[in-house]
Amino acid sequence: MAIRADSKKMRFARRLAIALLTLQPLLAKAQGYTARPQERVREALPAAAGVASAPLTNLPARKRHSLNGKWQVLVDPYASGIGDWKAVWKDRTAESKTEFYEYGFDDTITLDVPGDFNTQRRDLTWLEGSVWYRKAFRYELGEGRRLFVHFGGANYRADVFLNGKKLGSHEGGFTPFQFELTDLLQDGENRLLVHVNNDRRKDGVPAQGFDWFNYGGLTRDVDLVETPRSYIQDYSIQLAPDSLQHVDGWVKVAGGTPRQQVTVRVPELKVDVRTQTDADGYARVRFDAQFALWSPEQPKLYRIEVSTRDEALEEDIGFRSLAVRGDEILLNGKPLFLRGVNLHEEIDGRRAHSEADAKRLLEQARQLGANFVRLAHYPHNEHLVRLADRMGLLLWQEIPVYQGIDFADAGMQAKLETMLAEMVGRDRNRAAVALWGIANETSPNPQRDTALSALAQHARRLDPTRLVSAALYAPGFDAHTLTVADPLVASLDVVGVNEYFGWYTPWPVEPEQAVWKPFGKPLLISEFGAEARYGNHGADDVASGWNEEFQAEFYRKQLRMLERIPFLRGVVPWVLMDFRSPVRIHPFQAGYNRKGLLSERGERKLAWQIIRDYYVEAKL
Ligand code: GCU
Repeated sequence: MAIRADSKKMRFARRLAIALLTLQPLLAKAQGYTARPQERVREALPAAAGVASAPLTNLPARKRHSLNGKWQVLVDPYASGIGDWKAVWKDRTAESKTEFYEYGFDDTITLDVPGDFNTQRRDLTWLEGSVWYRKAFRYELGEGRRLFVHFGGANYRADVFLNGKKLGSHEGGFTPFQFELTDLLQDGENRLLVHVNNDRRKDGVPAQGFDWFNYGGLTRDVDLVETPRSYIQDYSIQLAPDSLQHVDGWVKVAGGTPRQQVTVRVPELKVDVRTQTDADGYARVRFDAQFALWSPEQPKLYRIEVSTRDEALEEDIGFRSLAVRGDEILLNGKPLFLRGVNLHEEIDGRRAHSEADAKRLLEQARQLGANFVRLAHYPHNEHLVRLADRMGLLLWQEIPVYQGIDFADAGMQAKLETMLAEMVGRDRNRAAVALWGIANETSPNPQRDTALSALAQHARRLDPTRLVSAALYAPGFDAHTLTVADPLVASLDVVGVNEYFGWYTPWPVEPEQAVWKPFGKPLLISEFGAEARYGNHGADDVASGWNEEFQAEFYRKQLRMLERIPFLRGVVPWVLMDFRSPVRIHPFQAGYNRKGLLSERGERKLAWQIIRDYYVEAKL
């Protein structure tokens, strides 16, 4: 009766197998219900099949197909789609009567790309979680050609898939990234799927606490970019440090053979340089020319042509020299004073992303009389940086190393260096970018000091042509004296200090009695400001009035101190325009930080005129 015994055993085995098969999705489902421990978002995804590569630069000059527009989306607040239960990234559709998948995409639920997801639908206003974006496209790629998908930015983490295969992931909400699609394209329809998660993370950059709105999503342009098999990946065509006519740059060719000819031309100056790539694809480019130097007064740009046998790219580049001499900042060898203003990447209560947005924001800075804009607290979109080149506005660009960074985290240094490299890589040919900011208000301690000192050196290796800065906490008063004692000063070219004397801390002395102790380097007051709700008026000495008169008096008092600092090389009021911040909850704030010289609608507060007059009349 062995058979029967077998059949009994077999029946038990079969029942067990069915139970396990049924149980498995339920187990996965149970996992899918659990709250989203951050490491799960990382580990649950399949290994990457695609090839991440250093982002292509100078996209405007390349063969591009924009993927901007409406993308199908699936809102996934708990990131439940990542795990094996749903595995949304497989992008499957039922093919039999018994199959079903608890996800789906169609054109009835879409979001605009670029654009944050929080402000496109009321139910997403406060979302900190996951949204799946899906875009189908067809692409005929010719023989010997390559195709990349390039993202201008996605906040905070993105996982990218093509036709159900993972291309890779990117962390960081404000720098470009790309993946190669060449060998993964299929005939007919291709389906690009992007999981974007904007959780704030303990090991994030920024970390979990910051004073701006955590806009999530595909917040910047998305493009398909086609290149030849061997393509010009990146180049630096800039004046050598301390020179006003010598260019010492390089061109990086990817996918090529050594000793490829590279030509760099500046037709207006009759420059025509021929050079060759080395074994790593780098070609050194050196030449001299009598440039009309770029400056805020004369933002001269030259048409540059970079070409190889397979490709030719053009770009407008400005040539100028930045240096520090003692406690002075020199632009083209002459002392420079930075009439600045701070700016968040926000307009009309949403994440700014377009050329039109950039024009509105920088035009406001221009009307204030500024020659300098600090792009707080993260790299802004490329449209704005390129526009600053054309308008003649100097920029401070920074990575979001903001209060609360976990410098003890084992992966932090690599993350900081990657973000810095992505920021520098994108904008290394922009004359407007003068300063690379490596931190904002980080408290001195051995791990932070070591990390940021190394980061400053890394910035100089990446780009020796610009100055390295950071915005430090303000020192406390010792009687009348203010001493900047942060160890990081030794690693910086220009020292930024954020001080709010007269707002967060009442003046302990009269402003003109304050004495700043020199430290042998240029000082920028990188933030100073007070809050007022536009249209609200009252006593100029009552901080809790949230009125314009108080804010204006704040600036009058500040200038009485600032005008007496002999090594002050720039001032940067915090902030051009009121901006959204969920930590600003007073009724007059109503979710906005109201230190703007302008309201969020661009209305000028009384304080605006104080700064405008200072910038115009002081002939700085
Ligand atoms: C800090 C910080 C800003 C913040 C500002 C403020 O200095 O750098 O991000 O918005 O103060 O308190 O308004």
